[in-house]
Amino acid sequence: MGGIMSQNVARLQRPVERPLSKTEQFRQMLLSPQLEFIMEAHNGLSAKIVEETGFKGIWASGLTISSALGVRDSNEASWTQVMEVLEFMADATSIPIMLDGDTGYGNFNNFRRLVRKLEQRGVAAVCIEDKLFPKTNSFLGSNQPLADIDEFCGKIKAGKDSQTDDSFSVVARIEALISGWGMDEALRRAEAYHAAGADAVLIHSKKSVGDEILTFGREWANRCPVVIVPTTYATTTPTDRFRDVDISMIIWANHNLRAAINAMRDTSRRIFEEECLNNVEGRVANLGDVFGLAGNKELAEAEDRYLASRSGVEAIVLAASRGNALQELTVDKPKCMLDVRGQPLLRRLTRSLNDAGVQNITVVTGYRGDAVDLPNIETVANAAYESTGEAASLACAKDALRGDCIVSYGDILFRGYMLNLLLDNPADIAVVVDAEWRAERASAPKRTADLVQCSLPFSVDALDESPVLLEKVDSAIAAEDADGEWVGLVKLSARGAELVRAEIEAMETDGTIGKASLPDLFNRLIAKGEKPAVVYVTGDWLDVNDAFDLARARNFT
Ligand code: SPV
Ligand code: MG
Repeated sequence: MGGIMSQNVARLQRPVERPLSKTEQFRQMLLSPQLEFIMEAHNGLSAKIVEETGFKGIWASGLTISSALGVRDSNEASWTQVMEVLEFMADATSIPIMLDGDTGYGNFNNFRRLVRKLEQRGVAAVCIEDKLFPKTNSFLGSNQPLADIDEFCGKIKAGKDSQTDDSFSVVARIEALISGWGMDEALRRAEAYHAAGADAVLIHSKKSVGDEILTFGREWANRCPVVIVPTTYATTTPTDRFRDVDISMIIWANHNLRAAINAMRDTSRRIFEEECLNNVEGRVANLGDVFGLAGNKELAEAEDRYLASRSGVEAIVLAASRGNALQELTVDKPKCMLDVRGQPLLRRLTRSLNDAGVQNITVVTGYRGDAVDLPNIETVANAAYESTGEAASLACAKDALRGDCIVSYGDILFRGYMLNLLLDNPADIAVVVDAEWRAERASAPKRTADLVQCSLPFSVDALDESPVLLEKVDSAIAAEDADGEWVGLVKLSARGAELVRAEIEAMETDGTIGKASLPDLFNRLIAKGEKPAVVYVTGDWLDVNDAFDLARARNFT
């Protein structure tokens, strides 16, 4: 037993193979014998582009983050605002970020708080410069005042003492060359900052050639890693010249922002002048690229995993009939295309379906099917619409009877919640029944209605939660025996759809499909032992059979 215990302990103690953290990656870049490169980014998108390009690290530049925010590189953006940007950048990428921390946003105390916050937000390193708060960009003005060496060393120490992750790096930036103090002052400061605990020094220059940087490198002789920013001395090439003097890291400090400025100006100008996009499409990233960078593929996969999606739900809308009672209004179009306050009736129906997350809509057309010209629908024609009923129309859309689906009459309007109630109902077949149908009957006594009998009448007190089942649906049910009116909406599960398909095929075989209504189809299924669920509603819908109904539809909001 002791043997097994000690084996387990040994297993626990063996170093676990794990990827390097961002702070470890950055520290390794500083310490590695080869010259490393990090690239500027100023927001989540540019940070992603830096990573996808292949860079091993990111420079979160004060100049470019400020510029992208529309302010000057003079601590006009507060440190917490910069932190917000950094958080997006760190979340968007898996490579380390070094923040250009300016002067540390205050004294040692502000800096140590900054270090703790950077660690918390997943930033691997910070660079602070020996200038005074509020700073100004090094390329502006001349001979900016430098921080007192001891004060700056105290700041470095405070930062190093407050980090909780040993691998977090503090880089000390020397502005002595920029401010005209010369090489000796630069080396003196490098020595002091190194002694104070800086993990690297950054020697900055604003000369147009890199000679003072090369001199510094030679004289410093790699006492600790040296970082450089060859912005103004870009012509000092090849890069091997910096390798030769043991520079550890090069920062390409602002080039993504500058590239973006040119591209945005060019694009804006073209569109402004040409008032069209012909010469712009093809030059700009396509939307697929934008969605790709944003990671939409991952979201789609996650939605498949986590979201009870309705995007796969099919809908079949039966819209073959003319609506004879509407007379001359339906000479050139079926009633589903009648205008209801600026939109065809059918468009309002398909919108309700879309709003409930149902995208695949098949409309069965018949009378003047050519007039059914709505976007985002499939149509199938019931060529025999004049002599057949709804079951035959549904048979025409048999291919869409799969998975979860909604079948709806094409001449109804209803409040959107009904679809949600239906789609949330777990039954294989679920129908919406209006329990307040009598009020409707009173106002239009001649109207035919698909009346239903259910296992339980509608009850306003929701104490009884027993499922209500459909027992019969038939326009011939006597009013006193009816529990409600079927609204013309049914939901089928995958199994329900299969049952309906099979029944349609049985009706095709036994020759009853031609004149059959949907109630006929349901009654056959009920007779075979199926028990459709009833979703009771009280009003909130209408169907359009005549001009009176149409007027009501126009008031239905
Ligand atoms: C920055 O990118 O903000 C820098 C580098 O600090 S420089 O602009 O060269 O000073
Ligand atoms: Mg800066």
